[in-house]
Amino acid sequence: MEKIIIKGGKELSGEVVISGAKNAVLPIMAATLLCPGKFSISNVPDLKDTRTMMKLLDIVGSETSFKNNSLDIDSSNVNNPEAPYDLVKTMRASFYVLGPLISRFGRVQVSLPGGCAWGPRPVDYHLKGLEKLGAKLDLKNGNILAVADELIGADIHFEFPSVGATGNLAMAAVCAKGTTRLYNCAKEPEITQLCEFLIKMGANIEGVGTDMLTIIGVADLHPANIRIIPDRVEAGTFLMAGALNGTIKVNNVIPGHLKRVTNKLKDTGCTLQIDKDSISISSPSSIKSVDMTTAVYPGFPTDLQAQWVALMSLSESSSIVTDTVYHDRFSHIPELSRLGANIKVDKNTAFIRGVKQLVGAPVMSTDIRASASLIIAALAASGKTEISRVYHIDRGYEKIEKKFLGLGAEIIRQS
Ligand code: EPU
Repeated sequence: MEKIIIKGGKELSGEVVISGAKNAVLPIMAATLLCPGKFSISNVPDLKDTRTMMKLLDIVGSETSFKNNSLDIDSSNVNNPEAPYDLVKTMRASFYVLGPLISRFGRVQVSLPGGCAWGPRPVDYHLKGLEKLGAKLDLKNGNILAVADELIGADIHFEFPSVGATGNLAMAAVCAKGTTRLYNCAKEPEITQLCEFLIKMGANIEGVGTDMLTIIGVADLHPANIRIIPDRVEAGTFLMAGALNGTIKVNNVIPGHLKRVTNKLKDTGCTLQIDKDSISISSPSSIKSVDMTTAVYPGFPTDLQAQWVALMSLSESSSIVTDTVYHDRFSHIPELSRLGANIKVDKNTAFIRGVKQLVGAPVMSTDIRASASLIIAALAASGKTEISRVYHIDRGYEKIEKKFLGLGAEIIRQS
């Protein structure tokens, strides 16, 4: 099994280029199932998760070809609207094929995702929404079977602005008969880009980027091409590594997507320079302790909570971090504690008392963002850290050790 080995303490310096956004490309890849034809997607990150989605598209009958971060998809011969457990269990985003496949075939079978490393992560909003659009649902042998002769527009109110449910139901509704209104939608940039892609395909969607989407069903869609937005979570991860230890420039970003994060980083005493598509950061001599609460966009992303906890564990005094999006997303904390971090968790809140130094140790990654927090903590720690189960990091970060090597880190991958 592969490990990442880091000799910490080296100051980071230089520039890094951010890849395309995982959470933007995954629903867009699913959207290519909505109609037959040839699609071209550029700035696609080479990740385990994008490869898993390609596999899923191949299983349902698409042809995919991926080279130099460009992905061509031919969905002309899709004929098998079924997403098997083997793929769904490794990547919950596989559930995104539900909306497009029922829209195109009037029938879809998708394995129910089950739990994940940090909590139950239900899909009830997706299912209730589909029922509102007129689908009949059945659970058989762990699979959701959804059938609808015709989907009919409806008003759907989300209890919480779920990214996945907004995307899935927007895709299900684009060709439904009549008008669908989605209330309390997610407004994450990745959902905005999905809507823009659907519009390029011929969909009629109003309110893109707001919390209410009005989708007027159209009879036909056609293929389209798109360039994926930069990954704001990868960018935020590198910025926090810079905040801990160095002076770096993060290129190919949309600074507007990271406003809450860069504001918080300024509060810690970091120096930031924000340009049109890059952000430079220098760590302060002493990191100020800053409380943080995650929230849906434009709030501070839950996907950067673990990395913020790593940053705060080396701050001057005490801070409180609360995750309001996921209440149980703290699997990084016992591992950060192995490096010497002083953190207590109560329900969805972490109480962090900054320490002067972290010290390298063998640790284990438990999910994508937990792994990222361990890497940036290890880079700032003294001595050697061995991170095992690195397949988690490969799900969401393209060439992470090469990128940190380019910034002067001592980091290698060992088989
Ligand atoms: N929720 C429900 N029922 C549902 C759907 C969601 O109760 O049917 C709850 C969840 O349990 C959670 C909240 O709503 O408490 C938000 O979940 P959401 O549906 O927004 O999450 P998601 O769509 O499953 C996406 C990202 C996650 C990211 C979250 C929140 C993708 C592929 N995944 O997940 O990214 O944390 O939004 O921003 O876009 C990651 O990249 O590491 C990652 C986990």
